[in-house]
Amino acid sequence: MDALEAIRMRRSVRRYTDRPVADEDLDELLRLALLAPTGGMAQAWSILVVREPQTRAALAELIMRGGAEYFRIARPAAEGATPEEHAEWARGYAAQALGTYPQVPVWLVGLRVPRHSYPEGHETFERDADIVSVGFMFENLMVAARAKGLGTVPTVFQWFVEAEFRALLGIPDELEAPLVTPLGYPEEFPSGLPPALAAARRPWRTLVHDDRWGRPRA
Ligand SMILES: Cc1cc2nc3c(=O)[nH]c(=O)nc-3n(C[C@H](O)[C@H](O)[C@H](O)COP(=O)(O)O)c2cc1C
Repeated sequence: MDALEAIRMRRSVRRYTDRPVADEDLDELLRLALLAPTGGMAQAWSILVVREPQTRAALAELIMRGGAEYFRIARPAAEGATPEEHAEWARGYAAQALGTYPQVPVWLVGLRVPRHSYPEGHETFERDADIVSVGFMFENLMVAARAKGLGTVPTVFQWFVEAEFRALLGIPDELEAPLVTPLGYPEEFPSGLPPALAAARRPWRTLVHDDRWGRPRA
């Protein structure tokens, strides 16, 4: 599969088999991920690879718990549902949507490791450049994984269980973990977005402006 097709075919995968990922495939993906552009060549990043069975089981459980919290906050409650009933719904939804996470063979955590390479007073610029760079690194990883038949999904559910997440993986306060992904073989690659999301995809021409803001292509 070439790069253009891998970009077209990449989809967020949330259901995985327990098939192991070969070490050489994983290493190749890590090397490709780390070829992404990085602001000022600062390489203010690292990738934490989680494979040890107990740790990845604990991480999967945390991510599912964080997911439940996200769904509780982000999704509207059913009419007449009490907060407790809504929270119960969110836990059930996370268990169903992310239910294969405990068997995912590899988890990858994208880290920002500040290098303090910008002049003093420009910390915000530096942070923005670093976080964007981690995003590029993840995109490389996800597209390359797709080309190899492996699934990923950019995940931020760790934000909702941050203290436990940091403690589990020994991540110091100075580092940030903007993105996490499972890495494994999908039950199947989703061929498109779920109907609700597909309907929400904005036509590309409305998102492109020519020469000056306010002149959308559409
Ligand atoms: C910054 C960012 C954060 C995301 N966070 C999550 C997440 O926490 N959990 C999740 O399951 N998907 C997450 N996603 C995946 C999006 O839901 C997904 O990319 C979007 O619905 C489009 O679907 P596609 O990736 O299949 O094209 C995230 C995507 C991005 C770019």
